[in-house]
Amino acid sequence: MDLNPAVKPESPSRWPAALGLALLASAAIAQDTDQRAPYVATPQEVVERMLALAGTRGEDFVIDLGSGDGRIVIAAAEKFGARGLGVEIEPELVAASRENARRAGVGGRVRFEQRDVLETDLSQATVVTIYLLPWLVDRLQPKLLHELAPGARIVAHAFPMKGWKPDRVERLRVARPRDRQTGESELYLWIVPAPARGTWRAEGWDLRVHQNYQEIEIEAIIDGRPQVVNQARLAGSEISFSAGEAFFRGRVEGRTIAGTLTRPSGTATITFARN
Ligand SMILES: C[S@@+](CC[C@H](N)C(=O)[O-])C[C@H]1O[C@@H](n2cnc3c(N)ncnc32)[C@H](O)[C@@H]1O
Repeated sequence: MDLNPAVKPESPSRWPAALGLALLASAAIAQDTDQRAPYVATPQEVVERMLALAGTRGEDFVIDLGSGDGRIVIAAAEKFGARGLGVEIEPELVAASRENARRAGVGGRVRFEQRDVLETDLSQATVVTIYLLPWLVDRLQPKLLHELAPGARIVAHAFPMKGWKPDRVERLRVARPRDRQTGESELYLWIVPAPARGTWRAEGWDLRVHQNYQEIEIEAIIDGRPQVVNQARLAGSEISFSAGEAFFRGRVEGRTIAGTLTRPSGTATITFARN
């Protein structure tokens, strides 16, 4: 699909090899007078990989923060059947995105708003995509953590978030037949974790969960006896761990963790309540 934007991105022939450097280089060209991330388009093959990495599907609502010519949101609708919103500060790019969406036949599934990404309500998104400068990514991080529901996926192109380890990293070589340049794109995926830190109690069990984003460690006491806990894992709201001979799998839902406990003697449901 040729999106043929009314506003063209920086000529690829001026870009350094890696697309993160391309964005930084363009920012340097834009000088310090303007703190916005400049417009450098994500190559179409990388767009599709970003959406695939997020596991995008029909029920998703995708928000692209700094949406340029709209290509990520349009691809989310066209290729993955999702709905979406592009947020872009430059009015000409917003206008070009609307036209591109209309031409792609997805005008009814996507919309574009002229807005600062820092003033955007993210709560509707199940997938967020980002290709912005590191300082802006840093400022977005608390919004992403607090406004997105557990299980929402964030995919960033080129720059990771500070302190929040990605759930997956992918590097891909990008061929650009137009000018025979190649470049490398780094993609980062995060799954927003449910808040699980704290102490939890159920029928003879006491749990203490230590949490750093999606990384958790669990101390478990069963009937007064400390257990060896292994394989503690948190993915969105899904939590699992083994404690002694028992294996637990369940969901963190506000003030409860409900799930099933499997022991050599059989399987039973169990609900932990937050202390
Ligand atoms: C590197 S481009 C990425 C465009 C598109 N997401 C893509 O991947 O092809 C970054 C875009 O973010 C926009 N932008 C920069 N700062 C912004 C802000 N604070 N709020 C909204 N858009 C912004 C720029 O105008 C530019 O179009």
